[in-house]
Amino acid sequence: MMKNKGLIASVVVIIAVVIGFFIYQTMNTPAKTAKKAEDKVQTVGILQFVSHPALDTITKGVKDALKEAGYKEGKNLKIVFQNGQADQSKLATMSQQLVDKKADVLVGVATPAAQSLANTTKDIPIVLGAVTDPVGAKLVASLDNPGGNVTGVSDQPPVASQIKLGKELLPDAKTVGMLYSSTEVNSKYQVNEASKTAESLGMAVKEYPVASTNEIAQTVQVMSQNVDFIYIPLDNTIANAMQAVVGEANKSKTPIITSVDTMVEQGGLATVGIDQYTLGKKTGQMVVQILKGADPSVTPVYTFKEGVTVLNEKQAEFLGIQIPDNLKKEAQIVGNK
Ligand code: TRP
Repeated sequence: MMKNKGLIASVVVIIAVVIGFFIYQTMNTPAKTAKKAEDKVQTVGILQFVSHPALDTITKGVKDALKEAGYKEGKNLKIVFQNGQADQSKLATMSQQLVDKKADVLVGVATPAAQSLANTTKDIPIVLGAVTDPVGAKLVASLDNPGGNVTGVSDQPPVASQIKLGKELLPDAKTVGMLYSSTEVNSKYQVNEASKTAESLGMAVKEYPVASTNEIAQTVQVMSQNVDFIYIPLDNTIANAMQAVVGEANKSKTPIITSVDTMVEQGGLATVGIDQYTLGKKTGQMVVQILKGADPSVTPVYTFKEGVTVLNEKQAEFLGIQIPDNLKKEAQIVGNK
């Protein structure tokens, strides 16, 4: 009898322990899952079209914005970065790789990269990093209502202000030469806008589209003989060859009005442009919004209202151009004397 009691007691204890264990486990499981979600590693795939100072700065801004929002690589964030080196087939392969890696958000830096990503997936959200004309590039239905898996930041610059600045610095200019790549949709749009302003200011416009990088130096040599200043839109092919452009233009002291601060720093004369780092930061902030669940189809494309006047004083001196005092006061001066 005593033996039996002991046995029953042992069985009761064992059953109690087993039940207790199950209750404990059930209670803890949801808590564990919640903790996991918090530390979940999210993947951001960045595809940059090519390396030039502007795009490199934008990519840096994207990464910094993620850091500032609390995303840490190796902890809750994985960044997969690819550089297409201006090669369409590389862009296509890399886009597919980023999709295969199951990125949570994709970032396309410059129009051709964004287009390649958009051609590869209609599901994964894509954030545009610095696409001049997202509607013209067929990436969104409209800026306010993108309508698909793509939204982001447009760097449409104040084109009219850029041409007006050229005329202010070069009051005697009669002809403007447009230097751009015939393969970039982003440039064509901007050249049309710039031409309208130039003509409204009484200047003639000559267009010099180049089909490939190899043609740039010779084209600049020819146009330097025929125009009073060169205008360059946000063109990646030209930006990538800016040193050669400046080298040729300097031979005949032909001034260059650019669309971006980085190209003024490389020897352009002036621009009214959008700060490239700010542009990248804004792009990164949109990536964060999407990572947190925002729906790209109803998230408007961000655009900048105004640019910053940037002047290269050393270049002005080399070209023998007097910078009006009012401009000198408001402008950001680069290229130390
Ligand atoms: N806006 C360009 C595009 O749509 C990309 C770009 C950003 C760029 N910054 C630039 C091109 C500076 C040339 C120079 O592709």
